Amino acid sequence: TERTLVLVKPDGVARGLVGEVISRLEAKGLRLVAAELRTLPREVAEQHYGEHRDKPFFPSLVEFITGGPLVALVVEGPRAIEAFRALAGATDPVKAGPGTIRGDLALEVQRNIVHGSDSPESAAREIGLFFPALT
Ligand code: GTP
Ligand code: MG
Repeated sequence: TERTLVLVKPDGVARGLVGEVISRLEAKGLRLVAAELRTLPREVAEQHYGEHRDKPFFPSLVEFITGGPLVALVVEGPRAIEAFRALAGATDPVKAGPGTIRGDLALEVQRNIVHGSDSPESAAREIGLFFPALT
């Protein structure tokens, strides 16, 4: 079994899609280990997205992700990292397939509703950042 960090980003919370996201991952067979509504301080957002620090969209991404409450989840199951990334769909919602969260529910690359860790190393780092008591 494996754990991954999932975020329902501020656009998803504002649009009332928290239940929809949780329903989809639970229906898939993944289980919730932790869940919290919180508004990220800028420093946490910059650490979370540190790999994108030099990208042109980084300032906009930090503004967006700190711009309202998000829901942070730790999710567990067999191959949870890959399983959730498959549920989420491609980063660009226009390219994400139908049946995926982003493909069904989003239209803009930045406001793409969810985050999911992309590797075991990222998952460990991100769970440590959001839920230090779990590590
Ligand atoms: P996350 O799970 O959120 O990390 O998404 P991802 O792994 O599918 O994509 P990536 O890590 O490459 O990008 C992180 C986030 O930055 C994306 O989910 C988008 O919200 C945003 N993003 C990525 N590319 C762009 C872009 O070209 N323009 C803008 N404005 N935002 C982008
Ligand atoms: Mg990513």
